[in-house]
Amino acid sequence: MPANLTAIALTSVRKTFRGVVAVEEASFEVERGEIFGLLGPNGAGKTTLLRLIMDIFRPDSGSIQVFGHPILSKDKERIGYLPEERGLYTRQKVQAVIEYLVQLKGVPQPQARVNTLFWLERLEMLDAKERKVLELSKGNQQKIQFIATVAANPEILLLDEPFSGLDPVNARALIQVIQELSAAGKTILLSTHQMNLVESLCRRVFMIHHGRQVLYGDLQAIQKAHSEKSVIVRSNANYSTCPFISQASANGRGTQIVLSEENQPRDLLAWLLESRAEVELFECAKTPLEDIFIRVAQR
Ligand SMILES: Nc1ncnc2c1ncn2[C@@H]1O[C@H](COP(=O)(O)OP(=O)(O)O)[C@@H](O)[C@H]1O
Ligand SMILES: [Mg+2]
Repeated sequence: MPANLTAIALTSVRKTFRGVVAVEEASFEVERGEIFGLLGPNGAGKTTLLRLIMDIFRPDSGSIQVFGHPILSKDKERIGYLPEERGLYTRQKVQAVIEYLVQLKGVPQPQARVNTLFWLERLEMLDAKERKVLELSKGNQQKIQFIATVAANPEILLLDEPFSGLDPVNARALIQVIQELSAAGKTILLSTHQMNLVESLCRRVFMIHHGRQVLYGDLQAIQKAHSEKSVIVRSNANYSTCPFISQASANGRGTQIVLSEENQPRDLLAWLLESRAEVELFECAKTPLEDIFIRVAQR
């Protein structure tokens, strides 16, 4: 891929903390303008990777490039980083805090004010602009921190667990904003352990477990590759006698069946017909991302 299409590139990155491996070996590229998901359970190494990209930590080995070169301090003005640990100047007023943080990113005061008011309005927080940050709910404080991250108009957004602490309505609002930012050409790298939340959001993903890659690539292709093995069936068959079912569990609509590696849904259909079962429903299921993760992580 030409360098100018790559926003962030990691090559064989390794990071240990006093001998304990946090990231064993990570290589991936984030393309300009895409929404890229860094997915994995707690402790997988996601925050460490984001801190490595931001040059808060140095890798033990491997290399990291941002905008086609090792990160320089002036590059940081072009990157909006929402850290996992939330914390603002809580005794200050909302608008003043955001304007201050935006100016720290090199945006002149008048523009900082325009951007701040725009984003406060966009996230329905304009009413809170004169309130102290500490008077707001945790979820709203988080929205303020998100606003402080985007209002400097950065080209790249690194969002560490942007949905944690948000109720479903606010999480959905944030997903929509992220989609708009992407449509406007921003590059977005977000980390989350809530994999099912980002199923429709990310174009590509890097799934990490114990510091190692378990899946990497186009999300739709990953889902397609894993979903062909999963079928929802409602029938009177005795699934325990079927030789090629690796897992069967109750599902709201029937039984969700995961086929063994070498079998296809049509094998199951043939088996159902041969066993003269009455079949009410037979549907190839889309496997939730979290289930895919669990399956690959266990290998
Ligand atoms: N500053 C640090 N010092 C020591 N260990 C750390 C530090 N940061 C992270 N770790 C360890 O590295 C691993 C990965 O952590 P982290 O990157 O925070 O995972 P995630 O963000 O995916 O939950 C964990 O085992 C964690 O305890
Ligand atoms: Mg983390």
